[in-house]
Amino acid sequence: MPKSKVFSHVFDEETLKNVNKLQGDGYIGNLLGPIGTGKESYVFYSENFKGRVVAVKIHRHNIDTFKAIPSYIRLRGKNTGGFIKKINDWTRFEYNFLSKAFNIGINVPEPIRCYENIIVMEFIGAEGRPAQPAIKDSDFDSNEWYPQIIDYIIKMGRNNLIHGDLSPYNILNYNGKPFIIDFSQGLKLSSLTKSFLVRDIDNINKWFLSLGYKKIKESQEIIRDIDENL
Ligand SMILES: Nc1ncnc2c1ncn2[C@@H]1O[C@H](COP(=O)(O)OP(=O)(O)OP(=O)(O)O)[C@@H](O)[C@H]1O
Ligand SMILES: [Mg+2]
Repeated sequence: MPKSKVFSHVFDEETLKNVNKLQGDGYIGNLLGPIGTGKESYVFYSENFKGRVVAVKIHRHNIDTFKAIPSYIRLRGKNTGGFIKKINDWTRFEYNFLSKAFNIGINVPEPIRCYENIIVMEFIGAEGRPAQPAIKDSDFDSNEWYPQIIDYIIKMGRNNLIHGDLSPYNILNYNGKPFIIDFSQGLKLSSLTKSFLVRDIDNINKWFLSLGYKKIKESQEIIRDIDENL
């Protein structure tokens, strides 16, 4: 089956139009891979018109899981429009959180372009081989990673940013360095969203404890480091 046929089986018309637009504008070429198929998205790699390899994350329009998270949208202060608009807003939020993390110097894929339900970003990997999530590729130095990831959480928090789904599934090991991905559940930090920050910290603490490390800091201590008034 030709490639375009395959994609038209997987994607709705709106998504195909959006892919075409990004291709026409030179941000992406043919979609290769896929490198990730989550419940909510497909991730491909591609090459842009400059020959740079990019990752292309496409949020699906036909998902049920999305219906389970209206409360999340409420926390973000935006809950208007039809289904497609909500997915597009969701994608834009993710892109904005990723951009913020990038701008404050967190190790994340460089954001390149956001269009409707599609994010184009730096491909983390080499020669078409994506870096693997730390849950699958544990070939890294925990002595370095643990404090570094806690520092990232603190730095993001001080910039009012919560990842919201931080775990070894969303941290890629690229050349022994941690790259945080998937800001789709990101939130602005406030007293209303503090529990999501606690969850992120607890996930990371639990993970490193399971690898045999002593807890660096309790979540409450880390939160005080971020903002004494929280
Ligand atoms: N920039 C990137 N470079 C390389 N690989 C990536 C990149 N972004 C995502 N991936 C790959 O695609 C997978 C899915 O991406 P992501 O976690 O952002 O989507 P998701 O829809 O939340 O998926 P899941 O439901 O599995 O968490 C990642 O686990 C990773 O393997
Ligand atoms: Mg993910």
